[in-house]
Amino acid sequence: MTQPAPYTQFLEEILITESQIQQRVAELGATISEYYAQSQNLLLVCILKGGVLFLTDLMRHITVPHAIDFMAVSSYGEGARASTGQVRILMDLAQSITDRDVLLVEDIIDSGHTLNYILNQLHARNPRSLRICTLLSKPSRREVDISIDFLGFEIEDKFVFGYGLDLDERFRNMPFIGVVKPEALA
Ligand code: IMP
Ligand code: MG
Repeated sequence: MTQPAPYTQFLEEILITESQIQQRVAELGATISEYYAQSQNLLLVCILKGGVLFLTDLMRHITVPHAIDFMAVSSYGEGARASTGQVRILMDLAQSITDRDVLLVEDIIDSGHTLNYILNQLHARNPRSLRICTLLSKPSRREVDISIDFLGFEIEDKFVFGYGLDLDERFRNMPFIGVVKPEALA
């Protein structure tokens, strides 16, 4: 007999299916390609680790020549479920962004503290433009106003995992967005 997949014990329901994600990512790629059609030096900046699946799928749908870079920040204390508002850069970009068109690629905007911090840091480096693309947004949780340029899906205030988002560092590889069972968050 085959065992159920390890994530099933934490899964309340699948919120966004693999095919819904893939379809939306393709649409976003087309929109972004149109928006940056004239750009000479587009740089996609992936916020690690949650944005990594989104970036690698999205870039396959972006037809404008572009480079990629990565930045890692910490916003949660160990085991915490919400941003502390105290953000630290764990790994900085390898490239200069001065005079470049920078598109931040994020997994989810929750309180907005993480992205607000990153935006302030990157603005100071004088990019030509700085835009935001996030797969998910939980608007009801926002504490800092963030204007999103490219959005995948708006979701309710539920803790989700999969497609880059982790449940205690695991299950980032799931191809769907799933809601975590409340008892698994205790
Ligand atoms: P913010 O600073 O509150 O906007 O938090 C943003 C970060 O919190 C995201 O980049 C995620 O890493 C993490 N996060 C927020 N909500 C969730 C969730 O539902 N599941 C997994 N990670 C989340
Ligand atoms: Mg993240």
